[in-house]
Amino acid sequence: MLKYEYHNLLASKQMLSILPKDKIFDSEHQVKNIHEEIMAERRAKLLGFYDLPENSTRHIDDFIANLDPVFDTMLVLGIGGSALGNKALYSALKTEAELPRKLVVYDNVDPVFLYEILSQINLETTLVNVITKSGTTAETMAGYMIVADILKRKFPKDYQKRIIVTTDKERGFLRQVIKKEGYKSFTVPDNVGGRFSVLSDVGLVSSAFTGINIQELLSGAKAMRERCSEPDIMENPAYLNGLIHFLYYRLGKNISVMMPYSNSLYDLADWYRQLWAESLGKRKDIKGREVYVGQTPVKALGTTDQHSQVQLYTEGPNDKVITFITVENFKHDYIIPNLHPDHEEVNYLGNRKLSDLLNAERLATEIALSKAMRPNANIVFPQIDEYHLGEFIMLYEIQTILTGKLLRINPLDQPGVESGKIATYALMNKKGYEKEHAEIEKYKQDRDIT
Ligand code: PA5
Repeated sequence: MLKYEYHNLLASKQMLSILPKDKIFDSEHQVKNIHEEIMAERRAKLLGFYDLPENSTRHIDDFIANLDPVFDTMLVLGIGGSALGNKALYSALKTEAELPRKLVVYDNVDPVFLYEILSQINLETTLVNVITKSGTTAETMAGYMIVADILKRKFPKDYQKRIIVTTDKERGFLRQVIKKEGYKSFTVPDNVGGRFSVLSDVGLVSSAFTGINIQELLSGAKAMRERCSEPDIMENPAYLNGLIHFLYYRLGKNISVMMPYSNSLYDLADWYRQLWAESLGKRKDIKGREVYVGQTPVKALGTTDQHSQVQLYTEGPNDKVITFITVENFKHDYIIPNLHPDHEEVNYLGNRKLSDLLNAERLATEIALSKAMRPNANIVFPQIDEYHLGEFIMLYEIQTILTGKLLRINPLDQPGVESGKIATYALMNKKGYEKEHAEIEKYKQDRDIT
């Protein structure tokens, strides 16, 4: 079970003047009301991510069982919620679980990045998974058209078996393509938004392909959902962490740093970054009033960023809440040999595990931050495996909904992203965006850009 250590978030012997515990209980009633609201939305099937652990994965198991054994690599073409979860799970487990197949994610429109990927993979043995809920995102569509064209030309007889598509059940032009070409397809559930979709086909197909145990992932998520099903704040880590972040945000801590002490979990911090930023960063509240809220998520890596960011976190503006992620047991470890026993400069390291040094440094950073009155929490993975990753995902998804509701905004929409998408269509002369195109031309003229 994931451990959630929050003692340095609340006033204690170490943290005298931060958030008094009473403040938490002042919000008890509010959180209870929000809990009722969440339960009602769950019953109305508006928060589909809660129910993903129960969804059948038979179709994925069958697909993997019948997969042409030639495929040893999956190339995901997707962006945002259609890519970050896939990356996070693969990065976390590729070494820890010794995954037999490889995942590569192209989540940009950078031509050099695409060139690098295409030079590095063997197309003969690569299965391409186009993931897009809307089926219209320019980045994903551009990547799809380039890669599908290459495959069609290289494998005219059987390119169809080399492409699968994950998209909306009915809507979107990709459904027509799927029908016409006969591509194998998977579904993004209607009531699950992109950044909450990692435990749907969006993240499960690529995970199962690489060899991740998706049942364990879902079991972990389910267990965390149960752990977070009580309205009692002190019994519910998602509500407690969400509430504390909210209260700190109201106290001017505008930044939330997630700092795993594990390279394997660095992409998980990236997944969190999108979840927190896109869900909570909103101009309007649910009543349409302008509020301009959101806490900026930042990712940092321990120990690497101790030599880059921690100076700022310890002595700079006290505007951050820091969450460490600690791993207790690593699959691979080293004993540091006592190569220079007569030299005090290094002999204290001799015969110690490398992971002991890593976790000692994490604790040292925690102590330094706490002494400087910087609120910090610690999420502890007993080890990196599917179960604990499933727990982590569900914990943060529920926390995000709670915090969104405390902020009185809609954590499920993303109007700012949509307006950027519209501007891109207009700039690229997509049909139907003529009015926006004219506006942009005017904007360019005003800025004297030709
Ligand atoms: O969370 C979200 O909804 C977004 O980040 C989307 O995942 C992202 O914009 C990609 O959208 P789509 O899956 O429709 O291509």
